[in-house]
Amino acid sequence: MLSFSALSLLFLAVGPALAIPPPDFGFPEAPNDTALAVTFPNNGSPLVVAEAQLFGVTIPSQEPTVAVDPSRSASIASYNGSYTLLMVDPDARYPEAPTSRFILHWLQTNMTTGPQAADGTTQLINTTQPRAPYRGPAPPTNSSAHRYILYAFFQHENFTFPPAFEGYNATNRTSFNLTDFLDQSNLGQTAAAAMYYFASNQTGVPPDFVAAAGATYPSGNGQMITAGPGPSIAPSSTPATATASATGASSEGSSSGSGSGGPSATGSAASASPSSDAVKTRAGLGVVMIACTLIVLTFA
Ligand SMILES: *[C@@H]1O[C@H](CO)[C@@H](O)[C@H](O)[C@H]1NC(C)=O
Ligand SMILES: *[C@@H]1O[C@H](CO)[C@@H](O)[C@H](O)[C@H]1NC(C)=O
Ligand SMILES: *[C@@H]1O[C@H](CO)[C@@H](O)[C@H](O)[C@H]1NC(C)=O
Ligand SMILES: *[C@@H]1O[C@H](CO)[C@@H](O)[C@H](O)[C@H]1NC(C)=O
Ligand SMILES: *[C@@H]1O[C@H](CO)[C@@H](O)[C@H](O)[C@H]1NC(C)=O
Ligand SMILES: *[C@@H]1O[C@H](CO)[C@@H](O)[C@H](O)[C@H]1NC(C)=O
Ligand SMILES: *[C@@H]1O[C@H](CO)[C@@H](O)[C@H](O)[C@H]1NC(C)=O
Ligand SMILES: *[C@@H]1O[C@H](CO)[C@@H](O)[C@H](O)[C@H]1NC(C)=O
Ligand SMILES: *[C@@H]1O[C@H](CO)[C@@H](O)[C@H](O)[C@H]1NC(C)=O
Ligand SMILES: *[C@@H]1O[C@H](CO)[C@@H](O)[C@H](O)[C@H]1NC(C)=O
Repeated sequence: MLSFSALSLLFLAVGPALAIPPPDFGFPEAPNDTALAVTFPNNGSPLVVAEAQLFGVTIPSQEPTVAVDPSRSASIASYNGSYTLLMVDPDARYPEAPTSRFILHWLQTNMTTGPQAADGTTQLINTTQPRAPYRGPAPPTNSSAHRYILYAFFQHENFTFPPAFEGYNATNRTSFNLTDFLDQSNLGQTAAAAMYYFASNQTGVPPDFVAAAGATYPSGNGQMITAGPGPSIAPSSTPATATASATGASSEGSSSGSGSGGPSATGSAASASPSSDAVKTRAGLGVVMIACTLIVLTFA
C-alpha cells in the first residue's frame, strides 16, 4: 500500500501546474506557486500581502520589503547569487484599454539574501541604488482596480543591464517592455518568485480598504474590468508584451487627482474579476486534489 505522502506526491505530480501570477494573465510567471513574500511596513503594523488581495490606495503607498522562502522552492534553496526585483502595472491607464502597459514601478538589481527569519524566509536586500526607485500604485479614480505584479528573478552570472533601459526618470516609466527587458538582460522569462495584488482609487473604495485575497469591494466597485481589449484573459503560453503606446503620462493616474469625483465610476460595471476566478479555480483544484487523495486512501 502506498503511503499518504507517496499518494500526495502522485496527485501533486499529475495536478495542474500552478504559477504566480495565474497563467491566464499571460505574463511571465514564477512556477510551482513560488510566492514572493511582500510586506508593507504600514506604519509599524507590518502587512503581508496575500495573493490577489485588493487594496484601496493608502496601504500600498510605502515601499514594501520582499523575501523568498528557500523551503518552498528547490531552485531558490540551491541558488546563492543575487536577484533582480521588478514591479509592474499591466493595467495602465485602464484595464480595458491598457495603453501604457507596462508601467515600471520598481526596478532593483543586485539584491542579496539576508539572514533567515523565524518563518524561514530570507529578505532580499539591495546592495546598490535602485534602477527605478519604488513608486506606489496610483490608479486613476475612474479606473477599476489595477494589477500590481512583483517579480524576483535569479540574476545569473550572464546578467547584463540593457543600455536601452538606462536612466528612468519620472515620466518615462510607461510602456516598459517587460518581455524585451527580460530577454536583453538574460534574466529569462521565468521568475524565481512572484506576487500580485490589486489596488483601486475609485471613490467608492475607501483608501484603507483591504479585501480578502481574490475578493472585491462589496459594492462591486474596485473590480477589474474584463471586457474590451485588455487585460488578456486568453490562455497563455506567450508572455504578454508591452503595447505600442508611448504616451508621456507620468503615472497610471497622472490626471486622476482632478478627474472624476463622482461615485459612479464607469469601472463599477465590471464583470467577474479574473483574479477571484483564478483564486477560486485554484482553491477548487486544491479541494479536488485533497478529495481524490482521501478517496484513494479510503479504498487503498
Ligand atoms: C517545480 O517542482 C517540481 C516538483 O518538485 C520540480 O521537479 C521542478 O523542478 C520545479 N520547477 C522549478 C522551475 O523549480
Ligand atoms: C555559490 O555556490 C557555488 C557552487 O555552487 C560556489 O562556487 C560559489 O562560491 C558560491 N558563492 C557564494 C557567494 O557563496
Ligand atoms: C549592480 O547592478 C548593475 C545593473 O543595475 C550592474 O551594472 C552593476 O555591475 C552591479 N553592481 C555590482 C556591485 O554587482
Ligand atoms: C537601497 O534602496 C533604497 C531605496 O529603495 C536606497 O535609499 C538605498 O540607498 C539603497 N541601498 C544601497 C546600498 O544602495
Ligand atoms: C486617489 O484619488 C484622490 C482623489 O480622489 C487623490 O487625491 C489621491 O492622490 C489618489 N491617490 C493616489 C495614490 O493616487
Ligand atoms: C528616461 O529619460 C532620461 C532623460 O530624462 C533618459 O536619460 C533615459 O535614457 C530615459 N530612459 C528610458 C528607458 O527611456
Ligand atoms: C524624462 O525623459 C523624457 C525623455 O526620455 C523627457 O521627454 C522628459 O521630459 C523627462 N522628464 C523629466 C521629468 O525629466
Ligand atoms: C544565463 O545563465 C543561466 C544560468 O546559468 C542560464 O540558465 C541561462 O540559459 C543563461 N541565459 C542565456 C541567454 O544565455
Ligand atoms: C516588446 O519586446 C518584444 C521582444 O523583444 C517584441 O517582440 C515586442 O514587439 C515589443 N513590444 C512592443 C510594444 O514594442
Ligand atoms: C476617466 O477620466 C478621464 C478624464 O479625467 C477621461 O479622459 C477618461 O475617458 C475616463 N476614463 C474612463 C474609463 O472613464
